[in-house]
Amino acid sequence: MVSLKSFIVANGLTLLPALVAGSPVMPRYFQGKLFSRDNLTASTVEAELGPQLSTGSLIFGPDDSEWANATSRWNTLVRPDVQLVVEPAAESDIAKIIKYCNDNSIEFLVRNRGHGITSALSNFSGVEIDVDQLLGVTIQADSETAILQAGTYGAQVIQALWDEGYVTTTGSTPCVGLMGPALGGGHARYEGLYGMVMDDILHYNLVLANGTEIGVNETSHSDLLWALKGAGHNFGVVTSIVKKIYPKETDTWHYHTYTWTQDKLEAVFEALNTFHKSDNGTTPPKMGVNYGSIIMNTSISTTEAVLEWGFNYAGPADEAEALLEPFNAIGAVTEDMGDVSYPTISGVTSDDCGSANYVIASVMTLEYNVTAERALYDHYIAKVAQYPDLATTAYLWHEGYATAGYQAIPSDSTAYPHREENHLMFFSTAVPEGSDLLDTAETWAKEAWDLWNGGQPDRQPQTYVNYAAGHDYETLDSIYGYESWRLDRLRSLKAAYDPDNRFRFFVPIVSDSA
Ligand SMILES: Cc1cc2nc3c(=O)[nH]c(=O)nc-3n(C[C@H](O)[C@H](O)[C@H](O)COP(=O)(O)OP(=O)(O)OC[C@H]3O[C@@H](n4cnc5c(N)ncnc54)[C@H](O)[C@@H]3O)c2cc1C
Ligand SMILES: *[C@@H]1O[C@H](CO)[C@@H](O)[C@H](O)[C@H]1NC(C)=O
Ligand SMILES: *[C@@H]1O[C@H](CO)[C@@H](O)[C@H](O)[C@H]1NC(C)=O
Ligand SMILES: *[C@@H]1O[C@H](CO)[C@@H](O)[C@H](O)[C@H]1NC(C)=O
Ligand SMILES: *[C@@H]1O[C@H](CO)[C@@H](O)[C@H](O)[C@H]1NC(C)=O
Ligand SMILES: *[C@@H]1O[C@H](CO)[C@@H](O)[C@H](O)[C@H]1NC(C)=O
Ligand SMILES: *[C@@H]1O[C@H](CO)[C@@H](O)[C@H](O)[C@H]1NC(C)=O
Ligand SMILES: *[C@@H]1O[C@H](CO)[C@@H](O)[C@H](O)[C@H]1NC(C)=O
Ligand SMILES: *[C@@H]1O[C@H](CO)[C@@H](O)[C@H](O)[C@H]1NC(C)=O
Repeated sequence: MVSLKSFIVANGLTLLPALVAGSPVMPRYFQGKLFSRDNLTASTVEAELGPQLSTGSLIFGPDDSEWANATSRWNTLVRPDVQLVVEPAAESDIAKIIKYCNDNSIEFLVRNRGHGITSALSNFSGVEIDVDQLLGVTIQADSETAILQAGTYGAQVIQALWDEGYVTTTGSTPCVGLMGPALGGGHARYEGLYGMVMDDILHYNLVLANGTEIGVNETSHSDLLWALKGAGHNFGVVTSIVKKIYPKETDTWHYHTYTWTQDKLEAVFEALNTFHKSDNGTTPPKMGVNYGSIIMNTSISTTEAVLEWGFNYAGPADEAEALLEPFNAIGAVTEDMGDVSYPTISGVTSDDCGSANYVIASVMTLEYNVTAERALYDHYIAKVAQYPDLATTAYLWHEGYATAGYQAIPSDSTAYPHREENHLMFFSTAVPEGSDLLDTAETWAKEAWDLWNGGQPDRQPQTYVNYAAGHDYETLDSIYGYESWRLDRLRSLKAAYDPDNRFRFFVPIVSDSA
């Protein structure tokens, strides 16, 4: 491991004085740009940084065949200006890359699986640190934890642990990163039992903005442990984590999907509200998720939307179907059910990576407001008729989790401020490439957002950081918490650990560069 001092000395540079706020002596990375955008080339960086990195690391620019994959975004409206990509082959390379960037006035941004949707990413211009090679999943001798490296992702972690008889919390989408979701919370199928993805993390290996490597856990930098759980994107680059794993308790998950016609809307949302309170105030913990949409399905109707809903249960069909009786009684137009392994229900073999120009606006709520859902339906159907080019991809999404596991954890113990919320919802549509419907889609999204929030008139809007798209109506308070101590604490940690605001490209607590 090369220290900052030896790096500078090895490069014939003078060690600079430590930065003091307001000091007239500026470190080199504030003295104009050594590299302008015109001359930051892969060959220059390769020559200077390459020799410091471990064998197998890659440095490449737009000409390389790996470029498209390494810079692709799930949401193509998010456009970070990546000038070149560095792919470390070892965790220890990351600190070296960051020090090199700092010393040369280059911004850096870590990429896990490219599903981040926030518009602040488009403010970025510099070196992408692509952690694609850091895929280690190592079950520890205690059989209670695993070490997961920065590049691991949903499908890969689920399959690797399942093969050894274990499960852990991940996001529910196979393609999405593990660390990306974890830094902001991480909701999915196991949260009723084991909490959010971040709730199972015991230790983070982290590189700070200045390239210093630290361990973060309950006894080391515990102040930062709090911040990494909910606002983590603002504080460092995680190279690996130690995460709790659990012996799998069931070989199969039961799924049951329903398509209901719109006349059943009130019955469905009333049943969902009752269901969520049915097990001592939560959805039964093993009924990990139900996901549902109000969406067009033209094979059923070309003028009316349907409700498509799917339930996932960590156990056998008979147990699940007993719980689902109220939904079976509603009367679906089509339904499907089965019993499959956890990797299968998680879609590990499916390709969910389809990119498009997505416009998304998300909300959270305690329970569904049936009147507001009907108003959302009416609004949706009017827009669908008006904008057929957006209608094919537009839908109103609803997430209902079992919340026992994640609500058992005290709200103030992590930076994540939304533990009392029971549902996540969002509107999404994809703007066809080359069309002029972007503003129309943004307006549609905002109107849906207003209708959802109008359904909880006595509450303030809540925004899940990982679903925040960067709209001006997503306030920092709505994302990081209305209790003023939360943002105060985050800002003071920011001043201590990232005073120059290197980490400001994912829902930044502080937007301006230093
Ligand atoms: C199709 C889809 C499905 C989703 N499903 C879920 C879900 O089930 N549950 C859920 O909670 N969320 C879900 N999300 C939201 C998801 O949590 C965020 O989009 C997340 O940012 C994606 O992470 P990524 O690694 O794929 O993306 P990236 O764009 O690679 O990463 C997002 C940001 O995370 C930061 N980051 C990533 N890795 C590191 C690291 N090692 N160290 C420091 N910072 C890092 C960077 O700031 C980066 O810009 C989903 C999103 C999409 C698009
Ligand atoms: C990049 O350009 C700047 C000025 O445009 C120059 O000072 C610097 O030496 C150049 N760096 C390299 C490595 O070519
Ligand atoms: C890009 O990624 C996909 C999916 O991981 C892979 O199948 C494909 O081979 C990659 N393409 C290149 C050029 O590396
Ligand atoms: C983008 O950068 C500018 C300039 O630093 C800043 O004012 C703005 O708030 C940033 N936008 C976001 C979404 O962070
Ligand atoms: C906490 O982090 C420190 C520093 O990395 C490390 O020495 C220690 O072993 C960690 N403790 C636990 C319980 O992981
Ligand atoms: C119901 O919830 C309360 C409060 O969380 C808890 O104290 C109690 O043990 C729970 N009862 C059962 C039967 O789970
Ligand atoms: C539409 O409904 C049919 C019948 O239920 C189903 O097979 C199909 O997958 C649905 N289409 C979409 C896009 O959901
Ligand atoms: C439900 O939403 C409607 C608006 O759609 C609102 O007028 C009403 O007050 C809401 N009900 C509750 C209980 O908040
Ligand atoms: C790096 O930043 C941390 C946190 O601000 C600080 O404690 C440490 O001294 C810094 N290291 C160097 C080499 O500047």
